[in-house]
Amino acid sequence: MKPSLPPLLIIDDEKNMRLSLETVMTDEGYSVKSVESAERGMELLSQEEFFMVITDARLGGMSGYEFLEKARARWSQLPILVITAYATPKLAVEAIKAGAIDYLAKPFAPEELLHAVGRCAERHSLIKENAQLRARSTDICQVDQIIGNSSKMVELRQFIQTVAPTDATVLILGESGTGKELIAGSLHTLSRRHEASYVRINCAAIPETLLESELFGHEKGAFTGALKQKPGRVEEADGGTIFLDEIGDMSRPLQAKLLRFLEDGTFTRVGGNDELRVNVRLIAATNRDIIDAIRQNHFREDLFHRLNVVQFRPPPLRERAEDIGLLAEHFLRQFSAAMNKTVQGISKGALIKLCSHHWPGNVRELRNVIERAVILENSQEIHPESLPDFQLEARLRKSLGATLPTAQSLDEFMSNYEREIILTALEQNHFSLTKTADQLKISRHALRYRMQRLNINVENTFDDEPPTAGKEKT
Ligand SMILES: Nc1ncnc2c1ncn2[C@@H]1O[C@H](COP(=O)(O)OP(=O)(O)OP(=O)(O)O)[C@@H](O)[C@H]1O
Ligand SMILES: [Mg+2]
Repeated sequence: MKPSLPPLLIIDDEKNMRLSLETVMTDEGYSVKSVESAERGMELLSQEEFFMVITDARLGGMSGYEFLEKARARWSQLPILVITAYATPKLAVEAIKAGAIDYLAKPFAPEELLHAVGRCAERHSLIKENAQLRARSTDICQVDQIIGNSSKMVELRQFIQTVAPTDATVLILGESGTGKELIAGSLHTLSRRHEASYVRINCAAIPETLLESELFGHEKGAFTGALKQKPGRVEEADGGTIFLDEIGDMSRPLQAKLLRFLEDGTFTRVGGNDELRVNVRLIAATNRDIIDAIRQNHFREDLFHRLNVVQFRPPPLRERAEDIGLLAEHFLRQFSAAMNKTVQGISKGALIKLCSHHWPGNVRELRNVIERAVILENSQEIHPESLPDFQLEARLRKSLGATLPTAQSLDEFMSNYEREIILTALEQNHFSLTKTADQLKISRHALRYRMQRLNINVENTFDDEPPTAGKEKT
């Protein structure tokens, strides 16, 4: 069986011919499906992938030529080889003109057929390989993808070039959207490890309980659901680089294990006893205030020092306003080409508007703003009207920012907020449960339950309900 090759499809209404073609091809290691009509062939093609089709020219129902035309219209890249008993030069030319990749006249030697099929198989593999390479190269970050002519960005790019070839552990600290992932990717690309794997793990995106097994792997039966042994991502990264994004979100117990791993490269899989060792360079990033996290005891100070061998701090966009225009133009070119639009420039008014915004979401926010503008804009230039109303957003953000929790978890924040609302409503209703429940549009029972949960003293309130009375005391 040719491992990465999808099957080939044979269409012939003569059973014996089908069988002998099948045998020849299967003996050569191809996986084969065969059908007796072009109609059935079209059906199969729309259901699964084939690397080529061999069809007889004369078929009952739709002819081989009609099939050729229809199939080429739908799957323009699919190689189709036509076989016929009536070989005349004219027919051969017609078949090739209609898009057949090749043409064989009966009787033909099996080698002729195998040769033609072999070429198609090779072509298929090349196309696949190219697509994979292209996908990989767009995935890999290059330092020149980091746009910016401000002195800070020029320095940053130089610093990447200096640090990349070393094996130093790197910590990248910076606000959201400042390009931390780009820096990490460029460090790997420019390192001696660039041919080995670059493994990225987002610590905030993986549930805490699974993160350890993701990183270090697990043995069979280590926990419910661990049906097979699974190697860790650190093993996949052996010889290469591992990028731990949002490291500020890692739990303290796992931080301890990471510390040990950083000390000497050793680790044990979850549920395992063997000490394993790999050679991995570590890059970590977070947009959290890591010093504050250490103060709050959320982040181990020793781990911080161990990670902080070399530190990168990509500056927020508002501190390098001179890069805004350049970045905007860069994203404009990108999106305009991707969306087939003719927007080519940014009007003066729009540029002034862009430069006066303070960009809390940094380059990511700018990228999104330009994407939206390219969608909305119908002229050759981006005009201020295609940009969001930054002032309105800034006001909204301010009013939300004033009440946002600082040292609380979301649950604590929500509970406190709920408590405030219920207490205010109780006060306004002179501690009448019925009136308060009415105002909050919940039942008295639900109100009592919530008050208990939020530790609000029920004794100071009064339950003024006989349910049938419908009259309220205050
Ligand atoms: N200097 C830059 N030049 C070009 N593109 C950039 C630059 N900085 C950031 N970007 C782009 O902005 C987006 C956000 O960048 P990135 O994902 O690296 O941010 P981040 O710092 O990792 O943010 P977060 O903390 O939210 O994960 C990406 O699309 C990235 O390609
Ligand atoms: Mg990121």
